Amino acid sequence: MKVTIDGQEAKVQEEKTILELAIELGIDIPTLCHHDGLEPYGACRLCIVEIEKNGEKSLDTSCTRYVEDGMVIKTATKEIVERRKLIAELILARAPGSKELKERFEKLGVTKSRFESKDNDCLLYCGRCVRVCKEKVGIEAISFVGRGYDTKVDTPFSIDSDVCIGCGSCAEICPTGAIKVRDEGSNRYIEYFNTKVELIECKECGKFFSTKKIIEKLKKEFPHLSDIDLCETCKKNKKMKKFWRAKR
Ligand code: FES
Repeated sequence: MKVTIDGQEAKVQEEKTILELAIELGIDIPTLCHHDGLEPYGACRLCIVEIEKNGEKSLDTSCTRYVEDGMVIKTATKEIVERRKLIAELILARAPGSKELKERFEKLGVTKSRFESKDNDCLLYCGRCVRVCKEKVGIEAISFVGRGYDTKVDTPFSIDSDVCIGCGSCAEICPTGAIKVRDEGSNRYIEYFNTKVELIECKECGKFFSTKKIIEKLKKEFPHLSDIDLCETCKKNKKMKKFWRAKR
């Protein structure tokens, strides 16, 4: 396939999205709901680009649209830049207090929103936390609950989740920093979801290093792995000891 992107011709051998191609070519397209490790989602529309194919022009999300032979793609026309700014303002209106979001939009020249703000810290529609929990962790501890205006991301019945393993992937991937994870005493707290998960001690040094449920899951999925019960430091020390013993 041959395509033109921002004036440069590119040969594309395998199926990929316009965003993937742009990244390969060093072209910067802003994103929000997209994450490399997750399936394409196309919810925030921040990554829109102009596509010309068979004489017809259209705007589409580069994270979900696959490259097709003969496409002429423009990633930063005046119209696109203006639309992205508007989208960024609308998104910011949902979480006006988010430092992470402001930093992300600063590049677009958006530091505040003209629209009425709701003091919310979750964007809701990016769905990153829900998707990572389902697609990568494989447990679906959280989902979209409620309808319309009352929709939110939460655990079933908004109570302490008994399936959450406390991995913190939801917090890690949240673009607004709304989800916080805190270790205190022998527990890990996923505060946004009122969830408490028990921590586990390293078999060697006795320090808390993970949650009981994570270790149980790992043991089940990778029964051949040794040292799952050890913290990273003790694993490293054990390896070093082995190495020096073999050198003697
Ligand atoms: S990053 Fe493409 S639609 Fe959100």
